[in-house]
Amino acid sequence: MFKGKTILIGITGAIAAYKICELIRLFKKNNANVKVVVTPNALEFVTKTTLETLSQNSVDTEMFNIKEYKPEHIALVNEADIFLIAPISANTIAKTALGICDNLLTATFCAFKKQIIIAPCMNTNMWENPAVQNNLNTLKTRGVKIIEPETGFLACGTEGKGRLADINIIFKKVKECLIPEQILKGKKIVITAGGTKEDIDAVRYIGNYSSGKMGIALADNAYSMGAEVVLISTVEAKKQYKVINVKTADEMYEAVKQEFCSADSLIMAAAVSDYKVKNKSEQKIKKDGNPLKIELIENPDILKEMCKIKKDNQIVAGFCAESENIVENAKIKITKKGCDYICANDISKKDIGFESNYNELYIIDKEHNIMHLEKTDKYTLAEEILGKIYGKSK
Ligand code: CTP
Repeated sequence: MFKGKTILIGITGAIAAYKICELIRLFKKNNANVKVVVTPNALEFVTKTTLETLSQNSVDTEMFNIKEYKPEHIALVNEADIFLIAPISANTIAKTALGICDNLLTATFCAFKKQIIIAPCMNTNMWENPAVQNNLNTLKTRGVKIIEPETGFLACGTEGKGRLADINIIFKKVKECLIPEQILKGKKIVITAGGTKEDIDAVRYIGNYSSGKMGIALADNAYSMGAEVVLISTVEAKKQYKVINVKTADEMYEAVKQEFCSADSLIMAAAVSDYKVKNKSEQKIKKDGNPLKIELIENPDILKEMCKIKKDNQIVAGFCAESENIVENAKIKITKKGCDYICANDISKKDIGFESNYNELYIIDKEHNIMHLEKTDKYTLAEEILGKIYGKSK
């Protein structure tokens, strides 16, 4: 199952550390390469020899055990496909939320850019402490996946929430992240990304702040869920799937028309300029002391046009950026455009949306059902959007 994949497991000092021995065996049985990194306290609960024997790899504990001139935490980061920390203590949750790198595990966390999953384990009072919950929330908004502890009998002799999740649940979560369910296998999905640019003259254009991150995150996720993806983007992207680079709304319109007819679905995540310049100048416009008048004419509404020609079995989703009455305006827009779903975000919130790595969305369907997706990184959000749209509808 995990052939060719390296799972990095971080273990912190909590009694449930012993359960991870069984989890390592499970990953090994399924052909994963398992690397283990522990905090010094973890070795109070489980021995290095046990972990090395089970993982069939050396277990790293030291920051400066430099092999082949690579600092150890960077070597681990490069090698691993996923980083699971189980059990993670309240202390390590706090340190990682703050970016503290005082041991090999926390330094590895700080440098790790792929998916991180954490499975906390602690006393109920500690779990309920607002500081712990705040730190967990910080990690969640940064895209860290949290496997909530279970309620039950705790090692400290009390009952309550705080028991490490069952190792089979942890195993399943890692599997879902590493080998995403192929819910889009056999489907062709066209996704647009970025802001269009409309020329004024040889050097100037009308543009917007869209970074293309949301569209690219959707395309990457759709690809890993098995879809044949065509990304039509104003932002350059080198991908394993087909990417068509465009600049203007007209170019995007042509490319979408071309690809949509043979597609199962279209997601318009691009910020398309509503207007273009009527008589753009081939030469740079010189200033002459007078106000410059530029006449703007409407661009095609790509989303609306595609909804007019869409067949019953094609799904079309749009995005909308609203600064007030988000849900109400989105409901109006879904009816006006005729699409199946609209993902609405609040552009008045400065920490999400345009240019940011984070967003918070409302997905609204044709029946005006509303699904709220909490603030998180755009990759996690993209996965949730695709799950909501395709997991349920088709
Ligand atoms: N869109 C499009 N073609 C356009 C303008 C927008 O396909 N010329 C798509 C966007 O990609 C997005 C959706 O329409 O998926 C909504 O975009 P938005 O800018 O919020 O809506 P507008 O139609 O421009 O409405 P308004 O600016 O009046 O709010």
